[in-house]
Amino acid sequence: MTRITISVQPRPYEAVIESGLLARAGDCLREIFPDGKHCFVVTVPVVRRKWGRVLAESLAGAEWNAHFVLMPEGERHKSMATVEALAEKLTRAGADRNAVVIGFGGGVVGDVAGFLASVYMRGVDVVQMPTTVVAQVDASVGGKTGVNLKAGKNLVGTFHQPRLVLIDPQVLSTLPEREFRSGLYEALKCGVIGNPELFSRMETKAQKILEREPAELEYLIVESVKLKAAVVSADERESGLRRVLNFGHTIGHALESQTDYRYFLHGEAVAWGMVAASVIASAIKKTDRRTAQRISRTTVALGTLPRVTVNPKKVVRALQADKKTRNGVVHFILPREIGKVEVVNNVPEAIVLEAIKQLQVLSR
Ligand SMILES: NC(=O)c1ccc[n+]([C@@H]2O[C@H](COP(=O)([O-])OP(=O)(O)OC[C@H]3O[C@@H](n4cnc5c(N)ncnc54)[C@H](O)[C@@H]3O)[C@@H](O)[C@H]2O)c1
Ligand SMILES: [Zn+2]
Repeated sequence: MTRITISVQPRPYEAVIESGLLARAGDCLREIFPDGKHCFVVTVPVVRRKWGRVLAESLAGAEWNAHFVLMPEGERHKSMATVEALAEKLTRAGADRNAVVIGFGGGVVGDVAGFLASVYMRGVDVVQMPTTVVAQVDASVGGKTGVNLKAGKNLVGTFHQPRLVLIDPQVLSTLPEREFRSGLYEALKCGVIGNPELFSRMETKAQKILEREPAELEYLIVESVKLKAAVVSADERESGLRRVLNFGHTIGHALESQTDYRYFLHGEAVAWGMVAASVIASAIKKTDRRTAQRISRTTVALGTLPRVTVNPKKVVRALQADKKTRNGVVHFILPREIGKVEVVNNVPEAIVLEAIKQLQVLSR
C-alpha cells in the first residue's frame, strides 16, 4: 500500500494506492469519517455493473448506509443539467450537510461528483475513487472540478479538494483498450515533466504495461500521483508551477477542439501534443534531437494513435483562441531534458505550423 499526502490548505489529504483496495474502501472511509452514516456514490451504469457490488459490500461491512446515484455515460453529460439532476436525487435520498459524496468512475464522474459536492448545501465532503487510468493518474488528485458549457469544456467549475482518494489499479482490468492506452499518455507526461525513472520504465516496459501487468500499473500510478501531489501542494490554484502539468495539452486541446472532441480521446490528443512539443523544443534548440526523438518514439510505442488529418493552419488558429492563452500569447510547455520542462511563450508561428505538419507525416 502506498500513501501519498497532498499538502493543501486548510486540510491535507491522502491518496491511497493498492491493488484490491476497493474491497477495503469502507474501512478506509471510516478512518476519515469515524461517525459518518450516509454516503452517496455518484457513478455511471457500466462502473456500477462491473465494480458496484465490491464497493457496496465493502461500505456495508463498515456500516455505511450507501446510496448509488447514477448519471448517464459520456462527456456530453458532464453538464449543469446532470449536476442539477444529481442534486435532486441527493435530496430525495436524504443527503444533508454531513453527506459524503463519492465519485466512483472516470474523470467525467470525478469532475461532476466533485462539482456537485462543492455546491450541494454550500459544500459537502467528497471522496474520489477513480476507475480509469486518466482519473487515477491525474483527474482524481488536485481538487479541480467542473462541467462543460456549449461554448466550451470545463468553463464552469470550482476547486474542491477531496478528503481522500482511493485508487485500486485492479479496476482497470475492465477498461476498454483505447481508454486504457489513452490514460497512459498522461502518465508518460508525468515522466517527461519531472520523473526520468518513470519515463525510462515506460520506455523499456511498454509491452508489460500494455498487458496491464499489475506491478507495472501500480508503479506508474504511484509515480504519477506523487508528481501531481508535489505540483499541487506547491501551487494549489494553478497560478504558475501547476502549468507544467499542461505539457502536451496546448496543441492537444487545439487538436481536440478542431475535431469537435469526437475524433481523439483526450489522452490521444495529448500524446500528439507531446510529440509536437518535442519537435518544437528541438527546432528552437531548447532540447537536443535525441531527447526529442526519445519522447516521440516512446509516445508512439504505446499504441496506434488516430491519424492527424486536420488542417495545421486551423490548429494554429485554435491555439490562439485557447482560454489559457494570455494576451494572445501562446504558452508552450517544452522539454529541456527528460524530467525537466519549461514554459516558453515566444515560439515563432512558422515553427508551430511545421511541428503540426510533422504530426501528419508521423501518422501516415
Ligand atoms: N479535474 C482534473 O484535474 C482533470 C484532469 C484530467 C481530466 N479531467 C477530465 O476527465 C474527463 C476524462 O476522463 P476519462 O478519460 O476517465 O473519461 P471517462 O470518465 O469518460 O471514462 C472513460 C470511459 O470508461 C468507462 N469506465 C470507467 N471506468 C471503467 C472501468 N473500470 N471499466 C470499464 N469501463 C470504465 C466510462 O464509463 C467511460 O465510458 C474529461 O472530462 C476531462 O476534462 C479532469
Ligand atoms: Zn490531460
